Amino acid sequence: MSRIRTQVCIVGGGPSGLLLGQILHRAGIDTRILERRPRAHVLSRIRAGVLEGGTVDMLRRAGVGDRLAREGFVHTGTRVASRDRAFRIDFAESAGKPVTVYGQTEVTQDLYDARDASDAAPVIHGVEGVTIHGADTDVPHVTYDAGGTAHRIDCDWVVGCDGFHGVSRRTIPEAVRTEVERVYPFGWLGVLSETPPVDHELIYANSPRGFALASMRNENLSRYYVQAPVTDRAEDWPDDRFWDELRRRLPADAAETLVTGPSIEKSLAPLRSFICEPMRWGRLCLVGDAAHIVPPTGAKGLNLAVSDVHYLSEGLIAACGGEAEGMDRYSDRALARVWKAVRYSWWFTTLMHRYPDDTAFHQKMQEAEIAYLDGSPAARTVFAENYVGLPF
Ligand code: APR
Ligand code: PHB
Repeated sequence: MSRIRTQVCIVGGGPSGLLLGQILHRAGIDTRILERRPRAHVLSRIRAGVLEGGTVDMLRRAGVGDRLAREGFVHTGTRVASRDRAFRIDFAESAGKPVTVYGQTEVTQDLYDARDASDAAPVIHGVEGVTIHGADTDVPHVTYDAGGTAHRIDCDWVVGCDGFHGVSRRTIPEAVRTEVERVYPFGWLGVLSETPPVDHELIYANSPRGFALASMRNENLSRYYVQAPVTDRAEDWPDDRFWDELRRRLPADAAETLVTGPSIEKSLAPLRSFICEPMRWGRLCLVGDAAHIVPPTGAKGLNLAVSDVHYLSEGLIAACGGEAEGMDRYSDRALARVWKAVRYSWWFTTLMHRYPDDTAFHQKMQEAEIAYLDGSPAARTVFAENYVGLPF
């Protein structure tokens, strides 16, 4: 068995693990990142690309903001539509700051490139059987197999950045964990097409037929979603069916100008809200999807992972410098912001989607709330300050 020592062992080489590794390395803290999948697989994942201002600042401070600054699209508003109206919410007017559209794949690529360019240990890909030992002691260690060899990493801290299906959350004893979950009775069917976006900003549409979202990656790469039954499969939605349904749900002006084309990616994702408390147990901390999942309606997944990294990196840098109390506040600080984003994502999802047991009354309540959002500066401020991101 090979055996090495590091200060922080990070399980998971997605956005959370890579950003934490980058920040800690720049603070002079030694890390190892263990990733189950090949890099190409990690980079092939298509995920929401709306970055809050705090996320952009964190990436810039971590030294991975250059391409984002060049290629990211600053959005100062979004459109919201229902059966009888479509209007724009201006983020600058209602919340004083914009968001940036920049694919999560690009964020992850930039983080991999930064690690490659640094003298930090390369991400270890293809690991199997990662097991976290002694998290409730002061001398934790991690074991795993790679290339047919057993490995052990002794460390001061273990950070679970291994997503919803990872091993780290399950390492915390059930008696210690409190988990709450809401599984939504629908999914999102997503399509990527090499076509110009239907609008220069996003469109969130509540239609009696179900939710639809028009988004983008760049001026010739569009991302669209329609709400679909969780029992559906991507192959149940040939392109023509998808485009027809999208047109029926978007506001009329967008439906008329929509440019369609062959899908280059098509997938159906279930929607859930999930939170695990606490986000720390002894020397093990959870970050990002390992601790919480939000429906993508509010585009909070990646942004919450980044704010977790913000709180945790502050604590770890202090702890590695001899001030352990910084870690004592990590879980409470992170969860305070997580719960607010979970609420917002749940509220926006409930406002915009059709539920199987819906009645005409529920549709009318949704349309009335959307009309209120259209007509009230106060309602738009509440929407916008959550959408652009609450302060860390
Ligand atoms: N051992 C090693 N790596 C693992 C293990 C394991 N046992 N289990 C999972 N992983 C890896 C996955 O292969 C994945 O690359 O951990 C990584 C977790 O990455 P994400 O799921 O992307 O989670 P996170 O980094 O927290 O990013 C959160 O990205 O996926 C989106 O919707 C998510 O927007 C959110 C953001
Ligand atoms: C996306 O572009 O994939 C996207 C954008 C905004 C969302 C969800 C997904 O709210």
